[in-house]
Amino acid sequence: MSFKDQVIWITGASSGIGEALVYAFHGEGAKLIISSRRTEELGRVRENCEGDKSHIHILPLDLTNTKSHADITQHAVELYGRIDMLINNGGISQRGLAHETQMDVIRQVMEINFFGTINLTRQVLPYMIEKKRGHIVVMSSVVGKFGTRLRSTYSASKHALHGWYDSLRQEVDVHNIDVTLICPGFVKTNVTLNALLADGSLLGEMGSGQMHGMTADKFTKKLLPKLAKRQKEIYIGGREVVAVYIKRFFPRLLDWVLKKSSVT
Ligand SMILES: NC(=O)c1ccc[n+]([C@@H]2O[C@H](COP(=O)([O-])OP(=O)(O)OC[C@H]3O[C@@H](n4cnc5c(N)ncnc54)[C@H](OP(=O)(O)O)[C@@H]3O)[C@@H](O)[C@H]2O)c1
Repeated sequence: MSFKDQVIWITGASSGIGEALVYAFHGEGAKLIISSRRTEELGRVRENCEGDKSHIHILPLDLTNTKSHADITQHAVELYGRIDMLINNGGISQRGLAHETQMDVIRQVMEINFFGTINLTRQVLPYMIEKKRGHIVVMSSVVGKFGTRLRSTYSASKHALHGWYDSLRQEVDVHNIDVTLICPGFVKTNVTLNALLADGSLLGEMGSGQMHGMTADKFTKKLLPKLAKRQKEIYIGGREVVAVYIKRFFPRLLDWVLKKSSVT
């Protein structure tokens, strides 16, 4: 596995999985572009990296501001002359009953997790097509493969990514571009603290799944070799990953199990 001198653009790099990816790829000698909304947090992440930081560029990005993505992408390409890998990691979760969740909350989750994500990919693709190589990566979830209570919109946003990126993979194969969908189980990050409730306020606490989930560092250690192999779909987590296979082969059994399980 060699990511040395690879130009890697990571969104959602200010926290959690994205932050751990910055440390891991920096350790591998990659050239990084790190993005999210909170530039001071990106600065903290950059400061935490050991050794030479000259190949870590901070590029502020709001996934919901799709009009800004073309200019930001051009800026990103100018930094190193190319982008070898785009990791679409930035995202937000949700907790609320489907019928109670406000439409503007549903739209906000879709704006970040789906529309913002695919639009950034759309902007990067022409540059990769021109170079005739590239790797597009997107952070889905195990709930991108099945649904569960209180996460209807989050699950829908991740399912939508599978349809879009699976289709894209078939289109860009001819340009030597690979597409990887990552489906994490529970990873101990701030994702539930930032999850939107039915009325749009923040949950503000860590879910028990995340509390007992694997660390972002451990997750990243498992992920990098799989990314190096350019696997098409990657599942990493605890026993919740088994649900992906139960859904595939015994969907009614999973429905029964999930109805009886605590999902908070
Ligand atoms: N942790 C888990 O258990 C788990 C499981 C499955 C999938 N995932 C997925 O993993 C990805 C990373 O989440 P995490 O667990 O690391 O959570 P996190 O610690 O809350 O990180 C989320 C990241 O997304 C960024 N972000 C949020 N809204 C954004 C926006 N509008 N524009 C740009 N960036 C935005 C945040 O940065 P700013 O606030 O600075 O913008 C932050 O860096 C997400 O896509 C999540 O759905 C996580």
